[in-house]
Amino acid sequence: MKKLVVLTGAGISAESGINTFRDTAGLWEGHDVQEVASAQGYLANPELVLDFYNKRRKQLLEVSPNKAHFNLTHLETFFKVEIITQNVDDLHERAGSSNVTHLHGELLKVRSTLDEKNVLDWRKDLLLGDLCKKRAQLRPHIVWFGEAVPLFEKAIKITQNADILVIIGTSMQVYPAASLINYVKPNTPIYFIDPKPTVSESAFQHLTILKEIASSGTETLLRYLKA
Ligand SMILES: NC(=O)c1ccc[n+]([C@@H]2O[C@H](COP(=O)([O-])OP(=O)(O)OC[C@H]3O[C@@H](n4cnc5c(N)ncnc54)[C@H](O)[C@@H]3O)[C@@H](O)[C@H]2O)c1
Repeated sequence: MKKLVVLTGAGISAESGINTFRDTAGLWEGHDVQEVASAQGYLANPELVLDFYNKRRKQLLEVSPNKAHFNLTHLETFFKVEIITQNVDDLHERAGSSNVTHLHGELLKVRSTLDEKNVLDWRKDLLLGDLCKKRAQLRPHIVWFGEAVPLFEKAIKITQNADILVIIGTSMQVYPAASLINYVKPNTPIYFIDPKPTVSESAFQHLTILKEIASSGTETLLRYLKA
């Protein structure tokens, strides 16, 4: 089976009712991203940051995967599909995708501030005073702006082995995730699905842009790939 690698961003979850942040004037649910999604923001106001992620977690438990997530699951009948997502939601998993790498962490997990390898499943609110076994504060298991991306090396290897690369719903503004497009082998076909694409076909070899929302764009993709 050919290896199909998919890089997804916030746009694939937009039709499930989760807002992207570039579409809302750079504010994420009304907040400056540096305030709620950076290590400095957490140090300055941990309560605000925990509350922000508590609201995101609660919202995530109320929404469902959409057609685009399910179309990617369907592709597993025809390809070995590897998803690399910038999203912290679990909608790919709930749609049934088998191989999902979360570059920027996961909303339904928390970790110790003392030991980043101590990761726990978490579905309720996270509060100041919620501690790990070593009595250190727990924090959201999210890669905040300015922090290292531990799974980036893994994502590079996955991308280097792609026979086809598909990119869906990302503004390609967040690095290093956006640089993954540069790691495909020469002549690898690339499909880019986004209603407001930020790359142009002339910028990359073998790039096809599908200027559509994720649900209809993935339908078009299935036709292109005869899946
Ligand atoms: N669902 C989530 O987990 C979620 C939501 C918001 C932000 N974030 C985080 O914020 C960062 C934002 O970077 P990003 O590039 O992923 O998102 P972004 O907000 O920077 O860009 C969103 C992209 O999605 C496109 N888009 C909007 N509606 C779409 C639709 N219906 N179908 C397809 N595309 C659509 C926009 O044109 C835009 O290019 C990520 O690192 C991510 O961790 C995650």
